[in-house]
Amino acid sequence: MVQLTIDNRKLESHPGEKILWTALEAGIFIPHLCALKEVEAFAGCRLCLVEIEGEKEPAAACAREVAPGMVVRTDSDRLKALRRLSLELILASHQADCPACALHKKCQLQDLAARLKVSLKPRRFPPLYPAADEFEHRCIEYVPERCVICTRCTRACTAIAGKGIIDLRFRGLDTVIGSLAEPEDYEFCLTCGKCVEVCPAAALRFRSDPDVSASHRG
Ligand code: FES
Repeated sequence: MVQLTIDNRKLESHPGEKILWTALEAGIFIPHLCALKEVEAFAGCRLCLVEIEGEKEPAAACAREVAPGMVVRTDSDRLKALRRLSLELILASHQADCPACALHKKCQLQDLAARLKVSLKPRRFPPLYPAADEFEHRCIEYVPERCVICTRCTRACTAIAGKGIIDLRFRGLDTVIGSLAEPEDYEFCLTCGKCVEVCPAAALRFRSDPDVSASHRG
């Protein structure tokens, strides 16, 4: 076992475990969005930054492994300010039409905004929605204005579903999710739905075609 300290609490974790999951398991909340326990860290949202004693720059808790004797701080004023900035940037790329959204009131973005005291429609940045792009998939619909490019969907498709049917397209502010689906993939997607399940922004959803919905429910 690895012994470390997080927010003055002495904890034990498994070798190779990440700081984020160790803290959460101990009841210490570290904001996070792009992390998925089952898949490799992306460390893109920068919400999980923590301070590690002896290191100048904050580290992403979702990507950093625990180490013996490590001393971690999760709640300094500097971290809070950095997280608020990161969340505002994320929300600038997310069209928060909450009442019309399937995740309304069970939404990780709403929860993070409330915890970090950030408006769901931050004024500091203009809307940064990517240009609409063709996402050709018979069963799944993509709403780029909602997508926060956390890549949970693409990583889940590759690492959990074992497929790689969806992937990132373009770069920088133009980045969107693209579909590489072939007709033979559709049946698989209907019964998988992992990308829809892990999306925290309701940017992916099953198409409302009755046949498709019925097959998925079945
Ligand atoms: S959860 Fe760690 S960077 Fe997103």
